[in-house]
Amino acid sequence: MTLTVPTRKPPTTGTPVFSVDGLWKVFGPKADRIPADPELSTLSPADLRSRTGCTAAVRDVSFDVCKGEVFVVMGLSGSGKSTLVRCLTRLIEPTAGTIAIDGEDVRAMDKARLRELRRHRAAMVFQHFGLLPHRTVLDNVAYGLEIQGVGKSERRERAAEFVAKVGLEGMEKRRPGQLSGGQRQRVGLARALAVDPEVLLFDEPFSALDPLIRRDMQDEVTRLHREEGRTMVFITHDLAEALKLGDRIALMRDGRVVQLGTPEEIVSSPADDYVREFVRDVPREQVVTCRTAMRPASPQEATDGPAVRPDAPVAEAIEAVAHAGTPARVMDEGTCVGVVDHEQLLDVVAGVPAGSRVGRATPPAPRTSPEDV
Ligand SMILES: Nc1ncnc2c1ncn2[C@@H]1O[C@H](COP(=O)(O)OP(=O)(O)OP(=O)(O)O)[C@@H](O)[C@H]1O
Ligand SMILES: [Mg+2]
Repeated sequence: MTLTVPTRKPPTTGTPVFSVDGLWKVFGPKADRIPADPELSTLSPADLRSRTGCTAAVRDVSFDVCKGEVFVVMGLSGSGKSTLVRCLTRLIEPTAGTIAIDGEDVRAMDKARLRELRRHRAAMVFQHFGLLPHRTVLDNVAYGLEIQGVGKSERRERAAEFVAKVGLEGMEKRRPGQLSGGQRQRVGLARALAVDPEVLLFDEPFSALDPLIRRDMQDEVTRLHREEGRTMVFITHDLAEALKLGDRIALMRDGRVVQLGTPEEIVSSPADDYVREFVRDVPREQVVTCRTAMRPASPQEATDGPAVRPDAPVAEAIEAVAHAGTPARVMDEGTCVGVVDHEQLLDVVAGVPAGSRVGRATPPAPRTSPEDV
């Protein structure tokens, strides 16, 4: 597995855009009774189905999506990702729980308010683009603005701007049938962006694309996030994609969120065997940061040796330590906050859990000279 994990800012705290609490979605007969019933609500998916004929697609899920973050929902097929994200704007009606956007109760919204939510505040980008085949690229991008009632000249101007932004300049007059899959997905993305939503919701938008185009589109999302700081909820079943794009990842299994954390937390401290198995093949040195791997520095170590940033992946420290033959200093704004030597680096690569590294006696490694065997 190869990974390119961009250096990211620490996850935003601040006010949540979406705030979800105790959310359930149960499909099937008399679904309403399930969340409140302590006996039924704790049954395994198979038992629940055989006892009641119901499927609990989302089970008691709570999380906040912070302003400006990319929040990834990951899990295997059927784990409840699409159902969860569709509940956010009530494209699917939740069975129980609360959902708020900027503090406003989504479940209490009337039809008009919901329409406004979906058109202006939380735009969805689907896997199968949903483009209008007889319209040009420009008119497809302008479509969301047309629904909003924006006048013709303004919407064409805005649409042209977003067509250029996603790299489709010169293709304005083509129809979707004359585009590649990746280009069509860019049109879908431009259409969602043109309405300037507060949150973009992506349901596996790139899973139908071939690997190279997929990487281009991921880079596009990273760029948009960096340049515009837009809040995004991104569904994927692809771990590498989740690690690359997510500020935080919610890992789902059978409708539950089994772990919610930064990519580094999920890779370095899996919550259970299921998550551990999920992340088994991840190259940890590309995800775990020097801040997590470091140990306290001795006075001499603090003044000497190569420097690495606290948020740099451990892979960078491996290179520095191998090159210098001494521990690398983890420097935060000019201050040495710790060091990593070969022992911490080996622990990270070998997958020794972060917790068990703490408190371990770690004397400074003896220096070797070129003559030593
Ligand atoms: N309308 C429905 N009626 C009954 N069951 C449903 C319905 N929609 C989804 N489900 C069930 O809910 C569960 C979660 O489905 P969901 O589509 O949310 O999964 P997903 O994680 O998005 O999967 P995928 O990766 O395949 O898209 C599945 O068991 C599915 O069969
Ligand atoms: Mg899905």
